Formats: sequence, C-alpha cells, structure tokens
Amino acid sequence: MKLLLTLLVCFFTLSISQPMAKNIDKQVQALLKKMTLDEKIGQMTQVDYEAVKNHADDLIKYSIGSVLWGGSSEIVNITPKGWADCYDSLQQLSEKTHMKIPMIFGIDAVHGHNNVDGTVIFPHNIALGATRNPAIVEKVAMVTAQEMKATGIQWTFAPCVAVVRNERWGRTYEGFGEDPELSRMLGTASVKGLQGANLSDKNSVLACVKHYMGDGGTTNGVDQGNTVADEATMRKLFLPAYIDAINAGALSIMPSYNSWNGIKMHGNRYWLTDVLKGELKFQGFLVSDWNGIDQLSPNYKYAVEQSINAGLDMVMTTTPRGSFNSYDKFISTLKELVNEKVVSMKRIDDAVSRILKAKIALGLFEQKYSDKALLAEVGSPAHREVGREAVRQSLVLLKNEKDLLPLSKSTKKVIVAGKGADDIGMQCGGWTIAWQGKSGKVVSGGTTIFEAIKNTVSKETKVSYSLDGSGADSGDVAVVVIGELPYAEMFGDREDLTLSADDQALVQNLSAKGVHVIVVLLSGRPMIITPVLEKSSVFVAAWLPGTEGQGVADVLFGDYAPTGKLPHSWPKNMKQIPINIGDKEYDPLFPFGFGLTYPSARAMK
Ligand code: BGC
Ligand code: BGC
Repeated sequence: MKLLLTLLVCFFTLSISQPMAKNIDKQVQALLKKMTLDEKIGQMTQVDYEAVKNHADDLIKYSIGSVLWGGSSEIVNITPKGWADCYDSLQQLSEKTHMKIPMIFGIDAVHGHNNVDGTVIFPHNIALGATRNPAIVEKVAMVTAQEMKATGIQWTFAPCVAVVRNERWGRTYEGFGEDPELSRMLGTASVKGLQGANLSDKNSVLACVKHYMGDGGTTNGVDQGNTVADEATMRKLFLPAYIDAINAGALSIMPSYNSWNGIKMHGNRYWLTDVLKGELKFQGFLVSDWNGIDQLSPNYKYAVEQSINAGLDMVMTTTPRGSFNSYDKFISTLKELVNEKVVSMKRIDDAVSRILKAKIALGLFEQKYSDKALLAEVGSPAHREVGREAVRQSLVLLKNEKDLLPLSKSTKKVIVAGKGADDIGMQCGGWTIAWQGKSGKVVSGGTTIFEAIKNTVSKETKVSYSLDGSGADSGDVAVVVIGELPYAEMFGDREDLTLSADDQALVQNLSAKGVHVIVVLLSGRPMIITPVLEKSSVFVAAWLPGTEGQGVADVLFGDYAPTGKLPHSWPKNMKQIPINIGDKEYDPLFPFGFGLTYPSARAMK
C-alpha cells in the first residue's frame, strides 16, 4: 500500500514538475536567443547599491541582472515602506532595458529582514542550533520571507550553514553549530521556510546557501582564512548541508572567501563545477561573495577568467564606476575574455540560463514590484510571537543551583544588572541595521530583557535596573545580563573569549554581597566563563536572541521549561579551542548537547 502510494505520488509530481521544468527551459532558451553578449554579461553582474546609487542609469546601460544591498550600503528611509519604495524605483529601471528582464535583488536577511527598521529580529543561527527544532527554524524563515516580500526583495543570502569548528571565528554565530547534522537539519528547514511550497508564492523568497565551503573550518578560526583538510573530511563535515539544501530545492549558493589547502574556493573548479553542478546536479546558480573574485589574483583579468571558468555564474561587484575592479571593469573584462575565447560562449549561456531559470521560478516576470498589502504584517504581534517562541527554545540552562529557577512571579524584589539587560542592540548582535550591529536602540520595536522581566512579574514585585547592580542586598535575586558587544565578519575574530573584566567584577561583587546571581549571557559563541561560574547560582546561555527578549523572561519565570541544548562544546579555557564533539581527547566544561531543564509552572499544575 505504502509503495503504491509512493508510486502514485511520484507519478503525479513528475507529471506536474517535468512539463513545468520543460516550460521554464523553453522560456530560458527563447530569452537567450534574443540576447546580445552584453546583455548576457549584464545578467551575470550583480552591483552593490552603494556603488551604483549615484549612477542608477548604469543599471539600464549595462542591463544589470542583479543589485544587492551589502552590510554597509544604506538607503535614506529604512522603514519597510521606505525599502519597498526604493526597491520599486530600482526595479522600474529594468523595464527600460531592451529585454526588460527584471533584476533580482539580494540582501543579508540572516536573522529576520534585519536591515529594515521595525521588523522582527530573530535569534542568530547559533541560537536556532540550540533549539534543535526544524519546525521553529522553518517558521522563522517563513516570517523572514514574508517581511522581505513586503519590501519587494526576493533573495536572501541565507542560510549560512557553516559548520563552525573554532569559536575564535567572529562568524561563529552565523552557523547552527559545530556538528554537520545541525547544519543539515536546520539549513534544510531554513531553505524550506524561505522558499515555501512554491518559489513563485507571494510569500516565498530565494535562499542562498553559504559559504561554500569550509568557512567554519579555517586554521585558528581566522575569517576568510585557510581550511586545511583532506577531501574526505570536507565531504564529511562541510558538504552534507549543501547536499540536503540542494535536495530541498535551493537555487543559489555562495562560494566562500576561504581557501581549501591554500586554494581559494572562488576559483576552485573541482568543488564549484565538478561536485556541485556535476555530481550533485545543482540546477541553480553560484553568486560570488562581496569582492570575492578580487582575491584570486592581483591580475584582475586572470581573476575573472579563473572564477567564471571555475563555475561562478554571477559576480558580486562593489565599487563605483571607474574605480578599482568596478562593475564596468568586470563587464569589459569578461567581454574581452569571451572575444578572446578564453571563456566560452557555452559557459556564458550556462551561467545566464541558470540565473534566468531562478528568476522565472520566482515568478519575477509576473510580479516585479513589491506587494504593499504585505506591509501591514511587518513586525506584527503574530510575527513577534514566532521570535519569542524561538528565543524560549534556544536558551540553554548550564547551571541551576538549589533549583533557584524558575523564579516566582511574586518575588518581592528583582535586581536587574549588567550592560546587556536593557539593550536591544546587544541582544541582536551583528547584521542588525548596521553591518557590525550596534549597542543601544538600533531597531524599533521589541523588548529588552529588563522590560520583559517587568512585564512578567506581579504588581507587587519591585524591579530595578542599574549597570552595577547597586541596591542589591544579601539574599536578593539579581538577573545579570553580560556578554559580547555587537560585531560581525572581519571584526569579530578573538584570541581571547574570556568574559570582560567589568562583567567578571559585576558577578563577583554581587556574589560577595550574598546576592543570588542569575547570569544571562548574551554572546555569539561559548565564552570562557570559569572565573564567574562558581559565583553564579544560575547560568543561562541566551546567545543573540534578537528583539523578542520576552522569551527570556518566559523561561526564567517558568511559563516555559528550558529545552535548549548546546550546539557547541563549551571549553574550559582558550587552550582547549578548537574543541569539538568526536575529538579523541574531549574534556569540555559542558559537552555538546548539554542543557538542564525544570518543569514549567503549567507542567507542575
Ligand atoms: C559576506 C557574505 C554576505 C555578503 C553580502 C560578505 O562580506 O561574507 O556573508 O552575504 O558580504 O553582504
Ligand atoms: C560586507 C559588505 C560591506 C563591506 C564593507 C563586506 O565584507 O559584506 O556587506 O558593505 O564589507 O567594507
């Protein structure tokens, strides 16, 4: 019976999808036939908004295929409506080109639509890794896609499926954890949520799985560094997430800045073409990272040749016309290479076909402009609820001495302290409005942990906040929120992950007074906490939870039980890093998968 059912399902899916795929191929062929070489190269060119904003006519002149907003590119009005207007006005330019092929717009919506003010900022991937729950990850991705579509933007450079083996790396939080299984399971969930049941649905966006591959495996955790590993290790640790994402229908992948045994991934024909497009039958397109091909050689012409012949289909160009390796330079260089037959017409047609296929599958030719009706949902209570749920599920309880948690809602006095307690920006971390993120009120909406505690306790409870916990007496309960200040790629690598001196002093001082210290750690990775762990009664790893701080209070006060499990082995000291599950010698402070719990108040009733 089961077999019969499977056969039936197969028959029907084949009978639907094959003609559809054929249809798309036909459309692609028809377009290709009408396109000049210049127009084809235009499709292969992506330009950073920052580079082209003062020459928007160039989008028409060069028939540019794609625009991105990089972490540092800024628009004037960052409200959802402002973004939608900016999007629409740029997309309009595509109608002035000969072929009228719509442009595809990419952005780093890596934890919600995080460049847009008023959106829900979700926990970063490391926190989602702690949930181990594909269902919540899929929901988060769905909401992200909806909020993106309200602004018109249909392509996110996400999910990052980095398997992170060294927490010194400043992008540790962008990956789901140290274990390939987490990246497989949650990367796939994310692709499904972003792309929806059908890419052309009004709430679906195109995913871009990144960074292919070995980004989390570099020596010493150096950003954009060198990953030294044999092929079998690459296939075991880093490839599985891509295999699953491709099977889930991902139609774009971003190669990584890092090298593999000294060779830059952006120029690696074996991994890009032979493995992805050959062995894994990837039907989508490959987009370079920001200026990624420039790193291949000081000789730009050679860099272009190498990357395109290695299998890159779209190149992310970032500097204004006329400057170093700018988009016009890329365009003229690639044209030269084609005319000299160094890059074949077949390669160009393959690249353009892949890009057009994705555009057609997205329904971009039918729905070019933003759907303003979706704007009402951006940052809505229903969307925030999904964020709050994700936060609850991501908290990892590392210590709970004398069952201090859950706190009673009618505790007489709750002291709140620490630099992270009333700081949305610190809760959100990097890639939040600003490329590197920012402390303070970086984004509107949301709830800080201090506010969340006030929302949760009884009317009689006194809640006070101060940076240094002043006013706390022996026997009081203090929620101390400490950790890392926002950072992102290039600026987040650390030789030392020990808690800062002021964070340590805060816990030590309070504990010396006889206060029960509940530490909530905001961080993009495990930190060295041994200096304060003994002085704290409770220790919660809250990662970078985003705007919905209420989820933290939900767990501290027992409305929900903590269920998060460590997505990384937690080291005792820096000397232990790299430390990963499966190591021959393995003696972490807390092992991979660790996480305590207690029954929720409801469960106890
Ligand atoms: C990052 C990518 C990002 C791209 C576009 C690069 O520097 O490595 O993760 O998608 O910029 O902003
Ligand atoms: C980032 C871009 C950013 C740029 C600034 C890149 O690595 O990905 O998004 O605008 O650096 O230098």
